[in-house]
Amino acid sequence: MGTTRTDIYTRQQKDLATMLKALGHPARIAILQYIISQQACICNHLVHEIGLAQPTISQHLKELKNAGIIKGNVEGTSICYCIDEKVWNRLKKLLEVFMQTNEQKKEIVKQKYSEIALQNSVSHTASCCCQGCCSPAVYNIMSEEYDKLQGYNKEADLGLGCGLPTQFAKIKKGDTVVDLGSGAGNDCFVARAETSENGKVIGIDFTEAMIQKARENAVKLGYHNVEFRYGDIEKIPIIDNLADVVVSNCVMNLVPDKQKAFGEVYRILKPGGHFSISDIVLAGELPEKIMNAAEMYAGCVAGALQKDTYLNIIREAGFTNITLQKEKAIIIPDDLLGNYLDEDEINTYKAHPYIIFSITVYAEKPL
Ligand SMILES: C[S@@+](CC[C@H](N)C(=O)[O-])C[C@H]1O[C@@H](n2cnc3c(N)ncnc32)[C@H](O)[C@@H]1O
Repeated sequence: MGTTRTDIYTRQQKDLATMLKALGHPARIAILQYIISQQACICNHLVHEIGLAQPTISQHLKELKNAGIIKGNVEGTSICYCIDEKVWNRLKKLLEVFMQTNEQKKEIVKQKYSEIALQNSVSHTASCCCQGCCSPAVYNIMSEEYDKLQGYNKEADLGLGCGLPTQFAKIKKGDTVVDLGSGAGNDCFVARAETSENGKVIGIDFTEAMIQKARENAVKLGYHNVEFRYGDIEKIPIIDNLADVVVSNCVMNLVPDKQKAFGEVYRILKPGGHFSISDIVLAGELPEKIMNAAEMYAGCVAGALQKDTYLNIIREAGFTNITLQKEKAIIIPDDLLGNYLDEDEINTYKAHPYIIFSITVYAEKPL
């Protein structure tokens, strides 16, 4: 069955459209402006202030009230109109989020991952879900058991992954492997163990501090065939048709233009090459307060796409033999939910908690 038109819009898009529709008349904007400027509820002065007849004003007030932007309280013989602060703040937040450019989103991501890389300790205090605001229980809600893998290096593991992409990457000795969003080099060092001395591993990351950390790790390990390049996944600094294998761990969700990113993966892979990518996707709508939180964006959740949309982008980029190798539901612990939601909202969320999934996808570039 094909996607219906309304399925393609997020709840945020639909809510914003409803509110903007209610505001879609200059008289309603003038009414709102007046109520806001008075910093109080307005009971009787609107006819004089707005300069329209009472029935017209009443109609506009009704539209604003139906959209939930204002409240009307009966006081004696009058109805007093006030801004609904909760809805008003939501509208402002929605506009703020929608006005963010892709470059601004990337800056938020760079800043967060820079902080993580610059942390003195390499203890696993970071997490893909929410660095810096988590209880220890949150650590590892997404990351996987790496320490049994050949090539694993503890100092390169900042606990930022959400799968084991190398596990399904079919890396052969001598392969050229590219790791997108390589962080401190965790998957690069595991990939190196598989491609061996004769192969080559290139890690790409746009956070300077991560590149620095990864290079230091490579030097400490004495690896000469692992290189870390500064660069953006939307414009990968690698020539066409170079890679046998592309891997990536919990990164694509952070890239604002995912079409461009998968187009780049296609470009750098040799014909017949393949990728194995672990990532976060959604199956349903996350509560808006979680979607809007900047740290949740940087933490791999708020920038995640619906699973079907994600797989479609891969298909449309030209890949074939697309296979979902692994899928695991991610449950956000209560203390993290408590940073964004009140008790009622937590209970509503927990009634249907299977929204966030970590997946590992494999696909091939045709010959
Ligand atoms: C969640 S961390 C994962 C790091 C690593 N893959 C791991 O598992 O340890 C995301 C990494 O992707 C990088 N990143 C995010 N968006 C990027 C982009 N557009 N281009 C290059 N790197 C990006 C971040 O700087 C960060 O190091």
